[in-house]
Amino acid sequence: MIVEACDLRFTYPGAAKPAIDDLGFSVGEGEVFGFLGPNGSGKSTTQKVLTKILQGYEGRVEVFGRDVRRHGSDYFNEIGVCFEFPNLYEKLTAEENLGFYRDFFDIPTDEPREALARLDLPVGDSRPVSQWSKGMKMRLTLTRSLLNRPRLWFLDEPTTGQDPHHAVMIRRLIREKADEGTSVFLTTHDMTVADELCDRVAFLVDGHVLVVDTPRRLKLEHRNHRVEVETLVNESTEHRGFDLSDPKDKQAFVDFVRDHDIETIHTQEPTLEDVFLRTTGRALSEPERPS
Ligand SMILES: Nc1ncnc2c1ncn2[C@@H]1O[C@H](COP(=O)(O)OP(=O)(O)OP(=O)(O)O)[C@@H](O)[C@H]1O
Ligand SMILES: [Mg+2]
Repeated sequence: MIVEACDLRFTYPGAAKPAIDDLGFSVGEGEVFGFLGPNGSGKSTTQKVLTKILQGYEGRVEVFGRDVRRHGSDYFNEIGVCFEFPNLYEKLTAEENLGFYRDFFDIPTDEPREALARLDLPVGDSRPVSQWSKGMKMRLTLTRSLLNRPRLWFLDEPTTGQDPHHAVMIRRLIREKADEGTSVFLTTHDMTVADELCDRVAFLVDGHVLVVDTPRRLKLEHRNHRVEVETLVNESTEHRGFDLSDPKDKQAFVDFVRDHDIETIHTQEPTLEDVFLRTTGRALSEPERPS
């Protein structure tokens, strides 16, 4: 395992209750592991413990088979971190930003110009980064976090603020890196990212991990057998729902389809968001509850 966390607890100074509590999970090599939870559920706090930004936690976290507390500064040669807010040198150009960052490492790093092109960022742009758009700055931060070719890549909401074209590009890059063996630990509210990209997801609520499984298994467990049919009756559309797990309703569905002109038929597969709501009793986009 690349990451193993067990009984992890962290309380911010002065807080009444822990931000994360009895948290446990593991991340394998080349796995994209998604951390899903509403605002304030402890996603960023967990990432900050794993990246040594927060000290003073209880429990055990091992990364690369070694207690995180015992990792020295060479730990940062092996991880890549891209958090929510771009913290770039705004007065420098993109290439100066990457060059500056690159100098921190005493290991082989990617060529900045090639790295920029990979996420559709301009090469040779003489403008300071302050004149770049928000989406471009986010992609630059992503690019920077990969320069040292990390074995473990932390991403906090990697597609937020990206247009659909660039969101697809980022999802592809994440998959590509995972296929090359990079482990990815990401938080997201984006169900396309969670569903398409994550090998496994953890559902986090109030600092606890409630479920960890593959998106597919989670959806299968919560599947239902409802079918929604739209028909045209006297030039207006009517909707009917059927539960195919009920033999009577199933027969009614067959009769209905035979006797009517059908416009559309849809099965009602749950989304990962539905599964989250049913499993945790909470919506993914629910506002933080006052503690
Ligand atoms: N610096 C801080 N000082 C005190 N409490 C904090 C601090 N940062 C976060 N918290 C609290 O810890 C809890 C977990 O916050 P965290 O930022 O980890 O949530 P999150 O899941 O990343 O949320 P979001 O989806 O909004 O990014 C929340 O109750 C939050 O108010
Ligand atoms: Mg967060």
